[in-house]
Amino acid sequence: YNGDDQKIDYVYKVVVIGDSAVGKTQVLSRFTRNDFCFDSKSTIGVEFQTRTLTVKSKVVKAQIWDTAGQERYRAVTSAYYRGALGALLVYDITKRESFDHVARWVEELRSHADNSIVIALIGNKVDLEDKRAVPTEDAVEFAENEGLYFFETSALTGDNVEAAFFKLLEEIY
Ligand code: GTP
Repeated sequence: YNGDDQKIDYVYKVVVIGDSAVGKTQVLSRFTRNDFCFDSKSTIGVEFQTRTLTVKSKVVKAQIWDTAGQERYRAVTSAYYRGALGALLVYDITKRESFDHVARWVEELRSHADNSIVIALIGNKVDLEDKRAVPTEDAVEFAENEGLYFFETSALTGDNVEAAFFKLLEEIY
């Protein structure tokens, strides 16, 4: 049960991964609190946020885990991925390197998470279109090859953030 005595049908653990500073924490805050912070600090350790919503007429509590993209803060792996049903793999459309590392993140997911985990690839910061360094087609092709869902989002404007999470939660169901 939720705080307001709303009956929860399912609790879904979702993890957010990707390089440092791609906007993982802000995408999550946009989804759970409809909030955005310009001077977002790097995440240290693991934090999680939740949002309860209705997916296909079931009340789903999404428990979304956020960790640092920076290697030195990553004490986690097995525990972080344990029981995760979904993953949001975020890169920054203005940072080519963050997209080049996506394959490594997929590998990490495949080796630590459950085989049936649903993965959404997220190209964040589309509000910075003039600084784009990753063509949409490159990501579409990668996502198709790897069997991932794909969305371009902006945590700043909120563009597509709900859509990405909803798709992920729907596919977990
Ligand atoms: P780590 O915790 O270090 O792994 O970083 P992170 O991936 O959680 O990044 P975070 O959410 O802290 O955002 C990093 C920076 O990018 C912050 O300055 C944010 O304000 C900014 N940012 C995040 N999302 C967006 C976005 O959609 N558009 C723009 N313009 N800036 C964004």
